[in-house]
Amino acid sequence: MTDRYEQLVEIAQALVAPGKGILAIDESGGTIKKRFDSVGVESTEANRLDYRSMMLSTEGLGTHISGAILFDETIRQQLPDGTSLVSLMEQAGILPGIKVDKGAKAMAGFEDEKVTEGLDGLRERLAEYAELGAKFAKWRAVITIGDEIPSRACIDANAHALARYAALCQEAGIVPIVEPEVLMDGDHDLDTSFDVTEATLKALFVQLYEQNVMLEGLVLKASMVISGSEAQDRAGVEEVAEATVDCLLNAVPAATAGVVFLSGGQDDVEATCHLDAMNKMGDMPWPLSFSYGRALQAECLKTWAADPKANREKAQQILLHRARMNGLAALGEWSEEEEN
Ligand code: 13P
Repeated sequence: MTDRYEQLVEIAQALVAPGKGILAIDESGGTIKKRFDSVGVESTEANRLDYRSMMLSTEGLGTHISGAILFDETIRQQLPDGTSLVSLMEQAGILPGIKVDKGAKAMAGFEDEKVTEGLDGLRERLAEYAELGAKFAKWRAVITIGDEIPSRACIDANAHALARYAALCQEAGIVPIVEPEVLMDGDHDLDTSFDVTEATLKALFVQLYEQNVMLEGLVLKASMVISGSEAQDRAGVEEVAEATVDCLLNAVPAATAGVVFLSGGQDDVEATCHLDAMNKMGDMPWPLSFSYGRALQAECLKTWAADPKANREKAQQILLHRARMNGLAALGEWSEEEEN
């Protein structure tokens, strides 16, 4: 066992420690502008710092949040008193993570499909992020369900890139979170979501194996097996939980350090319920937890935006509550009573 192997295993296990999950606040410039526009806040560097540092300063957040994924701008930011956001997180017991992909771009020759870019120069960027304090990283691939898609080529190109990214992360002593997101957009049913998710995950783990990625030092960020957002009869909580666990059991090797879910457009409590239902099903080969962006931030953002100064603590309380609810769901211990 090398030191690097042990270091990777230790970080990966800390990310999915019992009752803890990840806060995704790594929105790119375009995405954070969209989120701020929706609540009437201008997307300036100062406002982004104010909002994100407000979340990271929440007292007690580290009890439920193991790590937070940052965007390039954020990992370099400091508070007015000179404290870097990274040291703020370290004091709170929250591991700093960094989004390193350069976005999902139109895939040449494949209409309506995307392939994620960002491998060129990644070794050098990872070395710099490690210097800045990053302990883990994230790369998101996007798989779209539609008429005759996803294509095999799209699934394979994204799986290949995810594995190359993961290998570079581990070389740099950074735990890779690999995120092949099967989008919820569309009117597809649960079975279609199952089949596409299974094919995507199987292709990914073949590539991870071929490219010598060590699964004990890797976290999978998965989308749930769920009906399309415009489907007629959307599957209920139990069905989603069972289909998701069944799919993961079929495709994710037991050596994988953990699985965390993205929320992908589910509302806050829905995302919590789904996670809780899975964990109530009993022992799994890997911890099942959360790495939510919108489902952790939605209410907090709205409250903060209404009056960033006056509502600061109120927004923090809302975030802390959602983090605690999801922490309980990660243990299968969430309930309506706790929620209310
Ligand atoms: P959502 O939970 O809002 O889907 O975001 C998670 C994420 O990090 C997507 O890459």
